[in-house]
Amino acid sequence: MGIAALREAAKPYAFDFGTAIEAPFLANAKFAEVLSSQFSVLEAENSMKFERIHPSKDVYDFEDADALVAFAKQHNMRFRGHTLVWHSQIAKWVLEGGYNAVQMRQILDEHIRKVAGRYAADIYAWDVVNEAFEEDGSLRHTPWFDQPGIGFSQGTGYIKQAFRWANAAAPNAKLFYNDYNNETLCPKSDAMYAMARDLLENGVPIDGVGLQMHLLPDADAPETLKSIYDNIVRFARLGLDIEITELDIRMPDGSPESLDRQAKLYAELVRMAKDLPALKLIQFWGFTDAHSWIPGFFKGTGWALPFDENYLPKPAVEAMLAVL
Ligand code: G3I
Repeated sequence: MGIAALREAAKPYAFDFGTAIEAPFLANAKFAEVLSSQFSVLEAENSMKFERIHPSKDVYDFEDADALVAFAKQHNMRFRGHTLVWHSQIAKWVLEGGYNAVQMRQILDEHIRKVAGRYAADIYAWDVVNEAFEEDGSLRHTPWFDQPGIGFSQGTGYIKQAFRWANAAAPNAKLFYNDYNNETLCPKSDAMYAMARDLLENGVPIDGVGLQMHLLPDADAPETLKSIYDNIVRFARLGLDIEITELDIRMPDGSPESLDRQAKLYAELVRMAKDLPALKLIQFWGFTDAHSWIPGFFKGTGWALPFDENYLPKPAVEAMLAVL
């Protein structure tokens, strides 16, 4: 494609470039070509979520997840698992089953054992728990936490239990806590920091934190960038890996000015990764503007990813490469 690949450019550094996608897109040769040449980490955007992979009580559907894992292997990409415990996209049978705490505990334990266990040799890291905090740092109400929940409902007790189950199922996988709006120093990242310390002090097997980073362009303010940097540094001091897991920067239009501003912000994050070896991954939530959750969710915005709708590199790619 006449331009160096992100994947190659990151090789001298401690971080990789990754992306999350849906399995059916692999059938598109152009999509697959850009994917495998530009990225060295792959994640399932939806295929490993509870409702997809475990749609009824005794039914697991591994088809899409297996296809993604096979593609990653074939192209020498590492695979990231997403996600075992989340309040969203839980299968209906769990929500509507009227289960008590003991049953809920068995359901989640078995789910983690089956899913993390199946891919124990293939997945280098799991988002064990996703989005468990509210913006003010309090714990979110979720079917796993609230009564009946899984029965460890004192503070972060259910989170600790989930990490222990994941470790038993996939002892070699790095185990992550993942969330959004947690990239700067703020009440949510403070709560996450306090939890990470507490887990480490209590011997709970946590290896890292995920910063989703669904950003707006105003994250380019110098004070915001400094706050992101300082936040990453404090997690690194705990000895944890930090991964940017769902990066996109949603813009109001695709004008040259917008794409230039976006490119500069993407490049700033690459600069941080170069500077902070504990920051191990820059992973985009998709990679082409042809397939992104943004326009459907934040109406009137889009153009969020580094490749355009025709899979061609936008100014963001050039700007990131220039830093490397
Ligand atoms: O595939 C079905 C289709 O068959 C059906 O006709 C259609 C009707 O609603 O739905 C389709 O599924 C949708 C799916 O995306 C695939 O496009 C779901 O409704 C929709 O809820 C789902 O949205 C996903 C969202 O998580 C669910 O909360 C997005 O794709 C996915 O990008 C998004 O990812 C999350 C991360 O997991 C966690 N962090 C935030 C991030 C963005 O919301």
